[in-house]
Amino acid sequence: MSRISLRAAAVLAMLAAGTLGHQPARADKPAMHAPEAQDFVHGSPDDPSDAWAIAAGGRIYDSWWDALDRPAPTETHPSYPATGKVSGKNSWRCKECHGWDYKGRNGRYATGSHATGIPGIDGAAGRDPQAIAKLLRAPLHGYTSEMISDVQLMNVAKFVSRGQHDIADVIDATSGKPKGDTERGKALFQTICAACHGFDGRLLNWGSADAPAYIGTEASKLPDEVFHKIRSSHPGAAMVNLRALPLKDAIDVLTYAATLPVK
Ligand code: HEC
Ligand code: HEC
Repeated sequence: MSRISLRAAAVLAMLAAGTLGHQPARADKPAMHAPEAQDFVHGSPDDPSDAWAIAAGGRIYDSWWDALDRPAPTETHPSYPATGKVSGKNSWRCKECHGWDYKGRNGRYATGSHATGIPGIDGAAGRDPQAIAKLLRAPLHGYTSEMISDVQLMNVAKFVSRGQHDIADVIDATSGKPKGDTERGKALFQTICAACHGFDGRLLNWGSADAPAYIGTEASKLPDEVFHKIRSSHPGAAMVNLRALPLKDAIDVLTYAATLPVK
């Protein structure tokens, strides 16, 4: 059996047995991880470190329902502009309005299919997390405690306050290429990422057989998105993140990842 169908079979078996972790299995979305990883993926340590909390917040910024194992919203976010091209659940992702580079209309989302004219969150770096959390409960954002609990909201507020990087340190503005050290990145990738993604990054494919999406594909096309995930992990997946390590390590990994096969 292929890896994919093995995974699908495992998920089906878990659904049938009702054993998808300690939370009830959700029929709308099969888990991207084994049941025993539920606590690592969606739970919290009893004594969370700052690095853990900020990375957890980064995954909420990415896709809060995948990060928190909640139902995704179905309606378009009331504050999402009518001129925008996105609708439904995706309009509720922080990244959709504020960008992977945190710069909103002043960054990569200045033009193209994600352009909305909404500013970034970079101006809120260093702000009191309590004030950020309050802003997210106010009507403009409208995140209820059923969507994101108070504790989880503090994690995303900490991410906004203390977890942002300056994309100019990561990606060269002129060439669009990551600015790190490929050889160091290779060492980090081969000893960490390859455990799950394979040495050439092609073991996990979140695209299709015809249009594969491997680490190499994404790192070449969407380096700002991949960098966010290297620093915070991918929501809903049992994946590691480099939040506790120096920023340079993540930049180097991205730089090597962008040299891997795209198909
Ligand atoms: C539907 C679009 C949309 C989504 C989704 C969204 N925001 Fe916003 N956000 C805005 C708008 C609009 C503003 C207000 C900008 C202004 O004041 O002119 C804003 C402002 C902010 C600010 C203040 C920026 C500053 O410089 O004062 C922060 C911080 C922020 N958002 C964080 C988040 C986070 C975290 C999430 C996800 C949990 C999120 N936003 C989701 C539209 C959105
Ligand atoms: C313990 C296993 C594991 C390790 C180690 C790991 N990953 Fe992942 N990663 C995953 C899983 C599982 C997914 C989800 C794949 C899917 O959507 O099917 C994923 C997804 C991703 C995605 C993006 C998915 C998307 O949909 O956009 C990127 C990028 C990524 N990983 C990069 C890395 C990098 C770089 C490293 C090393 C720093 C790494 N991963 C280490 C398991 C791992």
